[in-house]
Amino acid sequence: STGGSDAEKRAAGESAAEAVEDGAVVGLGTGSTAAHAIRAIGRKVDSGLDARGIPTSFQSRELAKEAGMPLTTLDETDAVDLAIDGADQFSGPHLVKGGGAAHAREKIVDAAADRLLVVADPSKEAERLDHPVPVEVLPDARTTVAAEIRALGGSPTLRSAERKDGPVVTDNGNLVLDCDFGEIPNPAELATDLAALPGAVEHGLFVGMADEIHVGREDGVEVEEF
Ligand code: A5P
Repeated sequence: STGGSDAEKRAAGESAAEAVEDGAVVGLGTGSTAAHAIRAIGRKVDSGLDARGIPTSFQSRELAKEAGMPLTTLDETDAVDLAIDGADQFSGPHLVKGGGAAHAREKIVDAAADRLLVVADPSKEAERLDHPVPVEVLPDARTTVAAEIRALGGSPTLRSAERKDGPVVTDNGNLVLDCDFGEIPNPAELATDLAALPGAVEHGLFVGMADEIHVGREDGVEVEEF
C-alpha cells in the first residue's frame, strides 16, 4: 500500500513463494505484497504442487480461492510449515503490522508457523520502528484503551473507513486505534504493555517474529535471515 513499487513487491512475493515445498501447509498473509506470494503459490499449485493455505483475512481467502489454492484451518491441521506475510515496517526481525487491520489473525497464523517469511519492499525498512502501532479493540473498550494508550505516551486515532461513513470494522467485528508512539526504543516492552490492556484484542507489534525478510528490489531480492 505504501512507498514501494509493484515490481519490488512482486519480486519479494515470488521469492518467498519459492520456499513452499510439496505437502506444505502455508499461512497466507494480507496486503499487496503477500498477494503476489499467494498468486505465485497458486501458479505452483496449478502446475502440480500439493499445498494448502490458511488465510489470515477475508482478502487473502478470496485471493487464494481465485488462485485455485486448497484451503484449510488451524483447527484441521497440526502443523503450519511456513507463513508468508507483509509488514508495514520492519527493523531486524521486529515488525509493525496491521495496515490492513488484519493483524490479529495474522499474528495467530504467523506465530503458529514453523517459519515466518516476511515480504516487503525497501521503503518498509527502518533503523528503529516508528510506525504507528495498530491496536484492535473491542468496540466497548475504545475509550478506555485510548486513555491507557495516552498514559503510555502514545497518541491514538480511531481508524476511519475511506469509502464508508464511520470507522473501519475488522474481520472480527472490532475497531482499530492507530497509536503513534514516535520512535519505539524497546518494542518488547511496549508489546507487553499493550497486551495487558483490557479490551485490546491484539496489537500490531510482531516482536522478533520474522525468520526471513525477503526485500524486493527492481534488480533482485535480498534475503535477511534471523
Ligand atoms: C495487514 O493487516 C498488514 O499487516 C499487511 O501485511 C501490511 O499492511 C502490508 O501490506 P502491503 O504489503 O500492502 O504494504
